[in-house]
Amino acid sequence: MDVAVIGATGAVGREMTRILEERAFPVDRFLPLASARSAGRRVPFRGEDHEVQELSVEAVRGFDLAFASAGASTARAFLREIAAAGTVCIDNSSAFRMDPDVPLAIPPVNPEVLETPPPSRIVAVPNCTTITAMLAVAPLHRAAGLRSLVLSSYQSVSGAGQRGVRELIEQIEKLRGDEASLARPDPATLPVGEVVGTTIAYNVVPRIGDIEPSGFTGEEAKMMAEPRKILGLPDLPVVATSVRVPTIVGHAVSIVATFGRPIDPDEARAVLARAPAVEVRDDPASGVVPTPLEAAGLDVALVGRIRRIPDRPDALALFACADNLRLGAALDAVLIAERLIGR
Ligand code: A2P
Repeated sequence: MDVAVIGATGAVGREMTRILEERAFPVDRFLPLASARSAGRRVPFRGEDHEVQELSVEAVRGFDLAFASAGASTARAFLREIAAAGTVCIDNSSAFRMDPDVPLAIPPVNPEVLETPPPSRIVAVPNCTTITAMLAVAPLHRAAGLRSLVLSSYQSVSGAGQRGVRELIEQIEKLRGDEASLARPDPATLPVGEVVGTTIAYNVVPRIGDIEPSGFTGEEAKMMAEPRKILGLPDLPVVATSVRVPTIVGHAVSIVATFGRPIDPDEARAVLARAPAVEVRDDPASGVVPTPLEAAGLDVALVGRIRRIPDRPDALALFACADNLRLGAALDAVLIAERLIGR
């Protein structure tokens, strides 16, 4: 297949290229695309360097497949036209996720939406935190019928792209040797970057993106809307709080879920032990818990801290972690493509 990667110089785009290589995806022609800033740079793929071209509809014409990870505004500006010209687009941004003609797909969770190729020729990859949560929640939903969901996320800086990673590392460097002052910080001297907008080194920031008139951020709105579409539960009550934390790779999410019947932690562990793309890391006796750092680089979500909620036999609390660049983005896109081509 002739395959284009849009946003090939970015954090997810690079991971996508690596995964295409790792999984021996059937690529005949490989074309990395990015903004004009990166035109002429070179991207390695299968032992060869490929020159990055500036994204345009023309550049992608005739390609079978485009993996896009270049943000929602770039996706909105280009992908409908690229798809109309015949290229199947798998988009990592939020641009089309809630469009009725675009499937929102996590192959281990809702492969049925990919049974027939969508007439729009666009498939959307959910938000990385949604994917992490859904890998844990969907199998429990199938077992016991989900009734409500409360999601609180702990999201790494790579979720904001390479610039997010640089911002955290720069701030840690700036504060090196001065850590004791953080017990009584002078707000005027704390390092602040453009990406997070509040000091992220040695901090947690409960605001990812702008706070909307609803009181929720855009990130939270995605985490509330996307599970409803993926699980086919349009009226599911979902509340989300999304928080940026100073980890580099790996998102975590604390989940409180209620179900249509009683379900205890042992049953939940057994259900999750059989679920695809999930590994249970839950041993209260020996203190084994899932962490984002351990989930980084893995192709499974780690799930643990599964516990009952007092006086609520129909409710569970649990904690899930996944590599936001791989499982939460690039791998999902490649799994979607593999399904579409019947691999
Ligand atoms: P570039 O490197 O030229 O800016 P990240 O999520 O790590 O920030 O990466 C975003 C990716 O999207 C990068 O590859 C970036 O390219 C690409 N990108 C951003 N804006 C555009 C645009 N207008 N057209 C094409 N690619 C874009």
